[in-house]
Amino acid sequence: MLIAQISDCHIRDHDSAFGRLVDTTETLSRVVDHLSALDPAPDVVLATGDLTDDGTPPQYAVLREKLAPIAEKVVPLPGNHDEGPAFRLAFADLLPGDLAADHCSYVIDHFPVRLVGLDTTIPGRHDGRFDPVREEWLNQTLSVDDRPTVVFTHFPPFETGLKFMDQSGVADANRLRATIERHPQVRLLVAGHLHRPVQTTIGATLVSICPSTGNQLNLDLHPQHAAAVNEPPGFQLHRWDGERFVTHTGIVREPSTVRTIDLGHFAATVRHQYEAGEPFRK
Ligand SMILES: [Fe+2]
Ligand SMILES: [Fe+2]
Repeated sequence: MLIAQISDCHIRDHDSAFGRLVDTTETLSRVVDHLSALDPAPDVVLATGDLTDDGTPPQYAVLREKLAPIAEKVVPLPGNHDEGPAFRLAFADLLPGDLAADHCSYVIDHFPVRLVGLDTTIPGRHDGRFDPVREEWLNQTLSVDDRPTVVFTHFPPFETGLKFMDQSGVADANRLRATIERHPQVRLLVAGHLHRPVQTTIGATLVSICPSTGNQLNLDLHPQHAAAVNEPPGFQLHRWDGERFVTHTGIVREPSTVRTIDLGHFAATVRHQYEAGEPFRK
């Protein structure tokens, strides 16, 4: 199973702190074109929040238009920049009808791997909360089925070293980590919010943060520094082979700046030697 992930698209229709840095509508289009051309194609595309900048209906309209080529594969979850009611309305065709009133968490059960979306956003707030209601929901959801599972959420439940993001992250992250550790069938937990590719572990669970499809945050771990940067948009591909997840991070540059060399002849030689059982001599 191949799970693509996009995050932090931040579709906007006016200048903001990052407004002049990257045209997030253009970069999302570029990423969607790239995902549409992948062969093998991903089975699903997790979209892990901050899909718009302000959560307004016009921004969701642009988002849905840009996601149209992959719409039937998108599995959306809100982030702190989204707005619950407008988000639910914009994705009414893709979200289950029985969502809880106070959090947009849900399960997709028809793939070889269970997909469990955990919403820890709070209305009107830029930080998140793993409160007792969500803890009970996640614990119950993970207790009823021990098949290999991916948990996808917006806020990373661990300290990343990007101080200003950690300080505005999800409260009670330690209880969220403890819940994951109690359910080792969670083979992968993926998040967004950080606008960078970042990996760690929780128990035996691989934990990965996806880069933004718009601007990234500068990799600077000085506790008083904070900057956005126009590093290229990115996405992740999480490949499940029945035994383990392997996470790839893709970057998508402007097509005019991309140069490639066809290695087909070399790959054919390698394949021939591999199939013949010959050693790979220098
Ligand atoms: Fe974001
Ligand atoms: Fe966020």
